Amino acid sequence: MAGRSEGLPLESLWQAAGPTADGVGIRGGPLPPPLAERFPGELTIDLQADRPTVLANFVTSLDGVVSMGTGERGTGGGDVSGFSEADRFMMALLRSLADVVVVGAGTVRAGRRHQWTARHIQPALAGAFAAWRTELRLPPQPTTIVVTASGNLDGTHAGLNAPDVPVIVVTTRAGAERLATLTLSPNVRVEVASDGAHVPIGTLIEVVRGTGARVALCEGGPHLFGELLRARAVDDLFLTVAPQMAGRDASVTRLSLVEGTSFGEGRGRWASLTSVRRAGDDLFLRYRFED
Ligand SMILES: NC(=O)c1ccc[n+]([C@@H]2O[C@H](COP(=O)([O-])OP(=O)(O)OC[C@H]3O[C@@H](n4cnc5c(N)ncnc54)[C@H](OP(=O)(O)O)[C@@H]3O)[C@@H](O)[C@H]2O)c1
Repeated sequence: MAGRSEGLPLESLWQAAGPTADGVGIRGGPLPPPLAERFPGELTIDLQADRPTVLANFVTSLDGVVSMGTGERGTGGGDVSGFSEADRFMMALLRSLADVVVVGAGTVRAGRRHQWTARHIQPALAGAFAAWRTELRLPPQPTTIVVTASGNLDGTHAGLNAPDVPVIVVTTRAGAERLATLTLSPNVRVEVASDGAHVPIGTLIEVVRGTGARVALCEGGPHLFGELLRARAVDDLFLTVAPQMAGRDASVTRLSLVEGTSFGEGRGRWASLTSVRRAGDDLFLRYRFED
C-alpha cells in the first residue's frame, strides 16, 4: 500500500478552548499558503520560560504498535501508517517548527536513508516549509540530535551527511571512543554527556538547551520517548492513529516499552486531549502532559 491519504487536508474536528500559553510566548500560528490548504486553522507551540518545550511525534496502529519488524525492512513509521501522505505532512509540519529533532540510535539504525528534515519527507512542499521557517526566524534546517550510549552508528547514514543539517551525537565516553574510529562529516559534532552507561535525560535536555533551542521534537523511538516521559520531560504528544491492527507478531514494537515507561505498579501518566484532526481514516491526536 503506498500513499494513503494523498493530498487530503487534516480537517480540524475539535480543539481545546482558551489560550494555553502562560505569557511566555508561542511559536507558530496560522499556516501560510499553500500549507494552510492542508492544515486549516493554526498550529501553535507554547514556549517554556526556563527550558526547551519538548514535543513527541509517533504514528501508531490501533493496537499500539509503532514498528512492524526488526532490522531495516518494514520497521519504519511508513509501514505502520501505510505510507500515509497526511502523516508525512504532519511530521514535516512539526519538523518545520522545531529547533532540534531528537532521535535515539535505534531509530537511526532502522532507516539508513532517512534525514530528519521537512524537505526529506515532503519534497514537493519543501519550499513552503522553508518559507515558514524563514518567517518564524528559524535557521533553514533543524539540528538533528542523536542519542547513543554505544556509539554504534554508521558514518555513511544519510541523516549524518546532509552538509546543511547540523548533527550533534550525544553519547557516553565509551560511545565517543567508538565514534572516533569513524569518519564523520564536518556537520557532525560528538558530545560526551556521560562517563556512565547511558546519557541521563537531564543532561540530554541541557545539551538541547545549550544549542539555544526553544522547541525540541522527539521522533522516538519508544525507548527514548519512554525515558523522556518517565523524566516528565515531554510537554505535548502528537499521535497519529493509523486504521490498522498490527497483531501480536513477536517482532513488533509497541509505543510503551516496559523498560522505558514503567511508572510504578498500576500507575500511568495521564494527559489532556488538546486537539483532534482527521485525514481520511487517519486520526491526528494531540495530548498535553501535565504534572
Ligand atoms: N511509528 C513511529 O512513529 C516510530 C517513531 C520512531 C521510531 N520508530 C521505530 O521504533 C524502532 C526503534 O525503537 P527503539 O525504542 O529501539 O528506538 P530508540 O529509542 O530510537 O533507540 C534506542 C537506542 O537509543 C539510544 N538511547 C536511548 N536512550 C538513551 C540514553 N538515555 N542514553 C544513551 N543512549 C540512549 C540507545 O542506543 P545505543 O544502542 O546505540 O546505545 C538505545 O539502544 C524502529 O523500528 C523505528 O523505526 C517508530
